[in-house]
Amino acid sequence: MKVIVVKNYDEMSKVAANHVADVMKAKPDCVLGLATGDTPIGMYKNLIEMYKNGEIDFSKTTSVNLDEYYPITPDNDQSYRYFMNCNLFDHVNIDKAKTFVPDGQAKDVEAHCKAYEDRIDDLGGVDIQVLGIGRNGHIGFNEPDDELIKGTHLTALTQSTIEANSRFFASEADVPKHALTMGIESVFKARKVIVLASGANKAEAIRAMLKGNISTKCPASLICLHPDAVIICDEAAYSLV
Ligand code: F6R
Repeated sequence: MKVIVVKNYDEMSKVAANHVADVMKAKPDCVLGLATGDTPIGMYKNLIEMYKNGEIDFSKTTSVNLDEYYPITPDNDQSYRYFMNCNLFDHVNIDKAKTFVPDGQAKDVEAHCKAYEDRIDDLGGVDIQVLGIGRNGHIGFNEPDDELIKGTHLTALTQSTIEANSRFFASEADVPKHALTMGIESVFKARKVIVLASGANKAEAIRAMLKGNISTKCPASLICLHPDAVIICDEAAYSLV
């Protein structure tokens, strides 16, 4: 595991975008594993800039996203599909038919989760997986627990995540109570994983991840076992390590 500490959010975003761009340049038909939330927005802005400058090209790229609320429609402005369109896909030359986000309207959830996992395998695995980290150490929607489910699955959001995410919804009651998420094993299938963290409100999660024991009580700590994991965090997020 490699830890890169940078000054602030802008630097974190640039360093993260460079990691993704390096993979795209080396392998134009790569598979990107993408995340939503506040953390990667600056990274996506940098990638859009690089695309506009002709540095990177998304025409052969495929993407798979980590998670999606359930139930939610893709046109809901809080859905992760909507987020990805607004923050990246609408601004670059990616073929949207090759962008995959778990289906927040799936009727047969179990079959959908299996198909999502199969898709990752059929694509030959993710080349670089981008991750944010929850304040409680969650990865995707893999919340701290005694056990973690390996593959893509439906999960209940914890109260702390509902509260954290309520800032995006009209009220806490509007936050979906469930989500579809890749599991830790799905994430581990990626050849490279980058974890981004910025701000003092992530400091305890980064401390637990890097200094605590490996534990399902801090799902991010498991990422330390990945053979090619890079943690890119700013000074505030690293302040308790
Ligand atoms: C998003 C995701 C979540 C976020 C995490 C941090 O796809 O999987 O695990 O990465 O909740 O969210 P932000 O970046 O908003 O602090």
